[in-house]
Amino acid sequence: MVAATKKPITAIVLGSGLGPLADAITISREVPFADAGLPVSSVPGHAGKFLFGTLEGREVVLMKGRVHLYEGHAPEKVTAGVRWLAEQGARSIILTNAAGTLNPEFHPGRWMMLTDHLNLTGTSPLRGAHFQDLSETYDAEWHVRFRESAARLGMPLHEGVYAGNRGPQYETPAEVRMLRSMGADAVGMSTVLEAIQARAEGMRVAAFSCLTNWAAGMSRAPLDHQEVLETGQAAADAMIRLLRETLPQ
Ligand code: HPA
Repeated sequence: MVAATKKPITAIVLGSGLGPLADAITISREVPFADAGLPVSSVPGHAGKFLFGTLEGREVVLMKGRVHLYEGHAPEKVTAGVRWLAEQGARSIILTNAAGTLNPEFHPGRWMMLTDHLNLTGTSPLRGAHFQDLSETYDAEWHVRFRESAARLGMPLHEGVYAGNRGPQYETPAEVRMLRSMGADAVGMSTVLEAIQARAEGMRVAAFSCLTNWAAGMSRAPLDHQEVLETGQAAADAMIRLLRETLPQ
């Protein structure tokens, strides 16, 4: 018998409220986080498992739920899933998250493709002297492909800088002004450590923020986790279309 060539797998990490993305996948196998040696998240909307399957004929593995620093986990634990995905053969990874928008032109309900990030967590998953180059964390070729796909679909897709905070509290209005002056367009509590880990594993990385709310002080509404989940669910369809359009290429 001729051994089957191992197909490259694309990993997709689902952020808060983005569970509906899993419905777009034809699932062949599930692995609970615990079986992969990952801590199990306690946050509603973050039930942890890996889902292997296909999207438009392309082999994918979804990481549904993730592990956060704000739950008290060490940075290495937060990125254990990324290392596990690399061991499973994932050569590229698409990270999604829910984020507050800092840019008055980027309205809640839309998606932002990350061009770069600010790691404000004060920590790193890379210990020891691993001087990882991050001059192109988010893959430039993928930017072009996703930008072109979004244009074909008529889908608004912003591009900007994501600030990764530790949380779990949302920001103060003063912190939001600081983040804007630092060049950030969106703020959240995930993604940056995973992106660093993925680059250290040699993976190609793309990341998208679902802009679920105006950041603190930019509107009069107080921030609410439930609103974040609901806006994420409503915006998930657009991301499914974007992935369907882009991944088969
Ligand atoms: N700040 C930080 N994290 C978030 C936000 C926010 O406004 N919205 C969703 N995740």
